[in-house]
Amino acid sequence: MQRPIAHIAGLGVCIPTRVVTNHDFAERLETSDQWIVERTGIKERRFAAAHETVSTMARDATAAALARAGITAKDLSAIIVATASPDRPLPSTACLLQAQLGAENAAAFDIAAACSGFIYGITIAEGLIATGHGDHILVVGGEKLTAITDQNDRSTAILFGDGAGVAVVSKGARDGRGILSTFFKSDGRLADLLTIPGGGTADPISEKVVAERSHFMRMAGREVFKHAVLEMAEACDEAIRRAGVKPEEIDLMVPHQANIRIIDATAKHANVPLEKVMVTVDRYGNTSAASIPMALADAEASGRLKPGMLVLLVAFGAGFTWGSTVVRW
Ligand code: ACO
Repeated sequence: MQRPIAHIAGLGVCIPTRVVTNHDFAERLETSDQWIVERTGIKERRFAAAHETVSTMARDATAAALARAGITAKDLSAIIVATASPDRPLPSTACLLQAQLGAENAAAFDIAAACSGFIYGITIAEGLIATGHGDHILVVGGEKLTAITDQNDRSTAILFGDGAGVAVVSKGARDGRGILSTFFKSDGRLADLLTIPGGGTADPISEKVVAERSHFMRMAGREVFKHAVLEMAEACDEAIRRAGVKPEEIDLMVPHQANIRIIDATAKHANVPLEKVMVTVDRYGNTSAASIPMALADAEASGRLKPGMLVLLVAFGAGFTWGSTVVRW
């Protein structure tokens, strides 16, 4: 099938207002601003308020995206929410969002691909459009990671933040521009390196689970780091190859924002100079599935993302999962 099949018609973002700095962590945990900045590049992150959830943050982000796309919620044929921190185990956060939006003509479902979720969502949305499932699909990356992170564990607490970013994916090309390639892949053998072991049906929530704090995220940081660098490199190569473009043609790279050292290594591998790489990890930390759409919205608002640019999106996350896309913006 001839590409572009679809394009990104509008972006929106919800950034919680509460800023938590490294100094705030250093006041109650054995850590320091210097350690966190040197190892991760993170200076601060946002924490959602108690009343904010993935669905409410996604709802708040969606208004701007629909306006930019020139459509209403009733025009959406599907809502895909990528999240590792759903509002509830049942039903999907996408259905909760659908009700809040009044998107009565849509099918709504979640996908679980951790930090790669937004790329997976774009890939699925393009496929749905290609097979005739409507003209406009809302892809959400939303996370309330502070709710699934042990705030007393210095090795994970300092990394993660909350927020949501959304994209309207619409049928056809816009002035010849649109999605040029997608790539996604997983390796479930590595599941235990980044996991929430308790609280699912394999080990349902119980006093034991809570006492062991196994309903919170566990991560083998160094192993995750090594794989992230390798898999992000493969993802860059594949999206660029499938799009039939050259690395030097990429105008803007928007990688998953986990760690500045992973971002630097990925850009170096892809041969994209750092001035063409979007970085928000210093301000928002790692917001998992939300990080790429939040960074894209940031790039657009600050004038770094303009129509006609060749944009490379690349992600890696728990599963492990990884993926990428090249878009003529
Ligand atoms: N402050 C101070 N010291 C700390 C902290 C902290 N916040 N956290 C850990 N340490 C200590 C450890 O206890 C360890 O001490 P020890 O040597 O006495 O045992 C020491 O620092 C080194 O720990 P490492 O985990 O080996 O440190 P590393 O250099 O690997 O950095 C980090 C840790 C930042 C987590 C790094 O491994 C990393 O970024 N990994 C990738 C994580 C990631 O990107 N995850 C997300 C990808 S998937 C997704 O986004 C969900």
